[in-house]
Amino acid sequence: MSNYHVEPAAKPGALTKEAIKSLRKEQVEGLSRRQLMRVALGTGIGLWLLEVGAGTIGFIWPNLAGGFGAPIQIGALEDVKTANSTLPIDEGFPAYYAEARAFVILVDPAQQRFLPGEDQTGDGTALNVRALYQRCPHLGCKPNPCERNFWLECPCHGSRYDRLGIKADGAAYGPAPRSMDRFSITVDDKGVLTVNTGKITLGPLPVALGQPGLIPPRTPTGCI
Ligand code: FES
Repeated sequence: MSNYHVEPAAKPGALTKEAIKSLRKEQVEGLSRRQLMRVALGTGIGLWLLEVGAGTIGFIWPNLAGGFGAPIQIGALEDVKTANSTLPIDEGFPAYYAEARAFVILVDPAQQRFLPGEDQTGDGTALNVRALYQRCPHLGCKPNPCERNFWLECPCHGSRYDRLGIKADGAAYGPAPRSMDRFSITVDDKGVLTVNTGKITLGPLPVALGQPGLIPPRTPTGCI
């Protein structure tokens, strides 16, 4: 004996071909497999569109809002001096601007003004001002200007740069492979500096101490 029974086809409720067909035409309660697939697919596409939209807005927002990634107006040399009154800005000491993530430096202190013009590569010698990106080219820490030796010193692994961001060559001056990167800059007819934080030029190769192109430290020992 077994529990298995074959239902006669004539008995109501048996799964005949006709009964299965009629069941398929009836609306299934809850979500059918097809509906579930459609909902899942629609949700996936919706989430993807949301992510793409949010990413695009996030990318262009700084330019729209005038934040980092957009041109940022710093001011004339007098404004920089006033905003950093405790620092020897007029001697070419770097002034830090957090909103631009930049150090602004007077290149030649003999000329007490920023000269009008545009500098796409950020060298700054023609405009008498340079804006350095705050990231150390080694691993991205923020070097600090040292008032004792007038150099920039990275607290993470000890890379050392002169006040214009030129890396001193040699292992004794830290592991950074190049000098600090520069922002494109413009100075208008009134001497007002604008830093274009959306355009960065990589810094040049290190220069050995004693060679032209590297400003020697004012003291043998610095701040770190
Ligand atoms: Fe500056 Fe390593 S991050 S020396």
